[in-house]
Parts: sequence; C-alpha cells; structure tokens
Amino acid sequence: MNNNLASKDKEYIWHPYSSLVGKQDNIVITSANGVFLNTNDGRKIIDAISSWWVNLHGHAHPYIIQKLSEQASVLEHVIFAGFTHEPAIRLAERLLEILPGDQKKIFFSDNGSTAVEVALKMVIQYSNNIGKEPGKVIALEGAFHGDTFGAMAVSERGIFTNHFNKYLFEVDHIPFPEEGQEEYCLKIFEEKLLATTVTAFIYEPLIQGAAGMRIYSAEVLEKLLVIAKRNNVLCIADEVMTGFGRTGKLFASEYMTTKPDIICLSKGITGGTMPLGVTACNAKIEAAFLNPETSKTFFHGHSFTGNPLACAVSNASLDLLLNEGCKKKIEFLNKEHKAFKDKIKASKAIRKISVLGTILSIEIETFVDTGYTNSIRDELYDFFLNRNILMRPLGNVIYIIPPYIIEEKELNFIYEAIVDLLKKRQN
Ligand SMILES: Cc1ncc(COP(=O)(O)O)c(C=O)c1O
Repeated sequence: MNNNLASKDKEYIWHPYSSLVGKQDNIVITSANGVFLNTNDGRKIIDAISSWWVNLHGHAHPYIIQKLSEQASVLEHVIFAGFTHEPAIRLAERLLEILPGDQKKIFFSDNGSTAVEVALKMVIQYSNNIGKEPGKVIALEGAFHGDTFGAMAVSERGIFTNHFNKYLFEVDHIPFPEEGQEEYCLKIFEEKLLATTVTAFIYEPLIQGAAGMRIYSAEVLEKLLVIAKRNNVLCIADEVMTGFGRTGKLFASEYMTTKPDIICLSKGITGGTMPLGVTACNAKIEAAFLNPETSKTFFHGHSFTGNPLACAVSNASLDLLLNEGCKKKIEFLNKEHKAFKDKIKASKAIRKISVLGTILSIEIETFVDTGYTNSIRDELYDFFLNRNILMRPLGNVIYIIPPYIIEEKELNFIYEAIVDLLKKRQN
C-alpha cells in the first residue's frame, strides 16, 4: 500500500466533476483558516471562490466552530419526522423573517440539488392536491439547478446532463434574457404560456452561476415574474448561489417587486461548514397541503433532514451575516470590484466583465464560443493555482466570489494576478 496521501486518494476516491484518469493529483489540504487553504506541502492557497460558493465568513471561523461544538455536545442528530429541536425552529423562524415574499414554511434538506428537487415536487403535488393536472415547468436556457434528476431536468441540456437526457422529464427552456434580447425572451415566455399549461417557472435570480456567472437585469426578471403570476404560474427562485448577500442584498429576489412562491437555499446558508438545504414556500403552496388526508401529505424526507449541527451552524452564520460589520464588508467588496472593473475593462484580453454585489466575473477573450468546455479552462486554473489562488474557471470565465472576511491585501493579490493574466494574453 502506498503511504502517499495524494496517490492513495487517486487509488480510492472518485472526485466530483473529475476524470478518473486526470493528470493532476488532488491537492491535499490539512487545515484552513480565513481565506486560506493550507496544503500538506506548506502552501497557503487563497480560496477566491469560497470553496464552491459556500463559505461566507472564512474557514474555521471561531464563532461558528464554537456554536458547532456547543451543539455537538448536547444533540448531534435526531430523526426529524415526529421530533424537532430548538436550532431548527430558531433557524426557520429567522429565515421566515428575512426571506422575501411572505414565506410561510421551511422544509429542510441537505444541499442545493435537493432544495430544488423538493421545490419541484412541491409544485407538482400542489397541483394534484388542489385537483389540477400538473403542467409543464419552464426554465431559462443556460440554467443550472443541480445534479439530481429533477434538478437536471430543469437545467440546460448540456455537458452536465447529456448522458441522462432521455431520462429527464420534459421542460421548456426559454431564451436567456441577455441584454438586448429581453423582449424576445418575454415574447417566447408569453407564447409558451399560451400554447401549453404551465405549473411553474424556475430561475436563478439575476445571475446564472454555472453558466458562467451570466447576469441579467432585475427589470426583465420583474416582467417575467409579472407575466408568470398573471398566468397563475408558480415562481421558484433558486437562490442556492445568490442567497445570503452574494448579490449585494440579502437575497437576489429583493431586487424585484414581484416575489417568488418558493425559494431554494443552500451554499451560503451553511456558513461553509455543515451541509444544509432549505426550500421555503408561501401561504399559497402551504394551503394546498393543509389537509389531513394521507394522500395529500408531502412524502419527502432525508435521513439528515434538519440536522441540529447544520442548523446551529447556520444560525451562527446568520448572526455574523446580519451584523453591521458584515454588511460593510459586502459593500466594500462591491466597491472594490467596481473600481477594479473600471481599471481593467479596456483590456483586449477581456470579452466581458461584470460585477454583481460581491461577485466579479470576467469572460476571457478566446475568439471562440464562451462555454464550460472552452479549452483555455485548464490553463487558467493552473495560472492562478501556481500563484496560490484557487479559481475554478467556468470554461473561459474566471470569477471571484470570496468569503466576506477577505482583506484588502488578499483581494489585491488576486486582482494583481488577474492583471498579469490579462497582460500575458494581450501580448
Ligand atoms: C443555482 C444553483 N442551484 C443548485 C445547485 C446545486 O447545489 P448542490 O451542488 O449543493 O447540489 C447549484 C450548484 O452550483 C447552483 O448554483
């Protein structure tokens, strides 16, 4: 047996989104604190993407760890059907207070895909429960809502779904409301609603993450939501990435007047520490389930639903997030990103650069289509990693979505690396 951790890893473990015959070894992380990931060979890598967008307050935040440890010493887990506990109740109460759109009930699960899965099952059963034949779900082109089957079904058909397309339920994808294409998108949406019965519209509000941090306007989303509501279509906001301050407001749905019926949460809600997913719904959805008949019950649950450790961590993360200091950090990040954007936007190496809240994204000019499989991806990944920065480009799109505690000098270190990359590509 080989004692080297990286080789053992290669031998035993199947990593996500990774080829089993990948050339590079996985990097062994021994500890992490703040924005830094510490490797077993002594490197300190800046986590510029919050470890897949989950970490809000930095790694090993002492307050979160303290609350986790306190919770672990009293109740680590209990079945959540027929039983409950204070951390879950407190979290649900607090979420209902801050979520947009008069949300009435919180349903717990474990990750973003299950939060979406639950939302889809809720809207389908909602129709059944009120005696209506469930219709279609409409989503946006380019959407990514997760890797389970329902979540894949509402996602764009592409590299993440190709092997499974024939097993996915039929979903209509309307054009992405790109700047200049808004009217076209709205027209197609109206046409679909006329042509077929539609139960729900699911969307990543204001920004599609996996599609390459693609931003669209609050004005067009407002119009889409108004049209949906006018046609009695349930609106599902997938705030798995956008929630908890990422777009500058607590939730991206706050940018619109028309609010969703259902909100899916994960990633930020976890404080980056314990897995958690949440599906919140409003009184309209709730009403369809206020029925004692067994057949009307929502038969969905996971062994770790409402895990007390995850709820305690999430409460601790909320304490930090709702603090004035954190709000200032979010504003600071936005200001810095905007200033940096202005500084570099004229570079010929950039096709497009955008800032939304704490997210900065740059589409690198490659003279071929922007996309996840763009061949420049590995080169970009290595460029930043060689400088001890973890970026995980989405094809030719690089982006920063850092923990909010990032310091100015760490942010500048990332910006400088980007400037060097642009210089290199311009020459
Ligand atoms: C908008 C959105 N929804 C759902 C998911 C799936 O979340 P998870 O990876 O936790 O299953 C993601 C993941 O990137 C996402 O960005």
